[in-house]
Amino acid sequence: MTMQKTTTSEKVATGAAQSKLILVGEHAVVHGQPAIALPFPLIGAESIVEKSRGQIYLDSSLYSGPMELAPSSLAGIVNTVKHTLKILQIPYRDLLIRIRSSIPPGKGLGSSASVAIAIVKSLFKYKEEKYTKEILLQLANICETYAHGAPSGIDPLTITSDRPIWYQKEKPVDYIDPKGNFHFVIADSGQMADTKTAVDTVKQMLKQAPQKMYKKIERIGDITYQVREALEKSSKQLLGYLLDEAQKELEALGVSDKSLNRLIEIAKSEGALGAKLTGGGNGGCIIALAENEHHSQLLSEKLLQYGAHNVWSYELKG
Ligand code: PMV
Repeated sequence: MTMQKTTTSEKVATGAAQSKLILVGEHAVVHGQPAIALPFPLIGAESIVEKSRGQIYLDSSLYSGPMELAPSSLAGIVNTVKHTLKILQIPYRDLLIRIRSSIPPGKGLGSSASVAIAIVKSLFKYKEEKYTKEILLQLANICETYAHGAPSGIDPLTITSDRPIWYQKEKPVDYIDPKGNFHFVIADSGQMADTKTAVDTVKQMLKQAPQKMYKKIERIGDITYQVREALEKSSKQLLGYLLDEAQKELEALGVSDKSLNRLIEIAKSEGALGAKLTGGGNGGCIIALAENEHHSQLLSEKLLQYGAHNVWSYELKG
């Protein structure tokens, strides 16, 4: 459904947010293990709020029209907007919210959290009020609850960070300072990921074979501790090996799929030091570690050539 909306442009405010990548620890983090996530500034979301007479309008690539009629897939965003307006005591009308995002939705790159954070920032600016990181996280997590059910909270934390984060549920977030530079390639399989279903798959596996599956969750936790060391000691070879090891466990947990396995195989056959899925899995993206910048360009080209929907070369700088 699309509807055009003209504005009076009396007042305009904008907010922006980057995306995120999970380097290691996805799924295990839901069950108490640590995870490492990276802010991913190459893509992001922007929200532009304008005064516009009448009911609240949303204008985005997924839907344009009155916010009250937005599809259920946008329920998280709608609820974040409602809570933010309530906190800011902005009347529930006379607004046009334009959302522009370069983050492909449903690919494990934090699209929903990023859009939510951009919107919250723009509404605070519109009201000329300062926001704290806590309020951003709190409001973004409303959106995340709709997207994931019971999210770990890792996405909003990473999106609002400028350093890699070490995250474990119910513990204060910690930051990682990598030594040296790491060249990653992120490739989109083109398949939509369904994090909620993937999280449920793991829960089912844990129910069916608790001992065997908890070992896998714990193994991912061990790998995550070692990945931190590899980052802090600038050990690319070790990091590559550990990404491969994490992928084996994620496959055993039932959250990888053919499209991801194929891209991982291509990356490995083109010399990636390691490769795994990133995010919820079962569709979405992979992350591969290249030798250096030149290799990351070559890997990107090969992945595109063999069917990746999109690729990004990303250098994590120490
Ligand atoms: O939002 P995604 O698809 O990147 O997945 C988040 C990572 C999970 O560990 C699978 C879920 C969570 O809430 O931590």
